[in-house]
Amino acid sequence: MPKVTVHRKAHFNAAHRLYCKDWSDEKNFEIFSKCSNPNFHGHNYELIVSLTGEIDPITGYVYDLGVLKDLIKSEIEEAFDHKNLNIEVVEFKNLNPTAENICVVTYNKLRKHLPENLDLKITLYETPRNFVSFSGD
Ligand code: NI
Repeated sequence: MPKVTVHRKAHFNAAHRLYCKDWSDEKNFEIFSKCSNPNFHGHNYELIVSLTGEIDPITGYVYDLGVLKDLIKSEIEEAFDHKNLNIEVVEFKNLNPTAENICVVTYNKLRKHLPENLDLKITLYETPRNFVSFSGD
């Protein structure tokens, strides 16, 4: 059967601060600019979850997008939406919540719930123009 990629878009708002705790506020500002603001700031994150695999000959689906929607809601939106990522999300307790790291954490949280025969790719927009992607390599 042909291999097809299905995509599901999702959204969450979250606050973060990018910094290294061993650096001064000045050094953090030099490296992370406005994202180092000690009082945190928010982003409107746009998430795209992509699954690639063969079409099931019976259902005609690669994966049920309703199931994927519910999985993203329970694993990602409920964990990240309207949260302070540094303070409230355990994965970022000792990990800078950059778009890169949020993308990898999102991948790992979803990967374990999805069939092994499907390839997973995460695309995360931190702003309309800045986005990152991760496919598990
Ligand atoms: Ni930021």
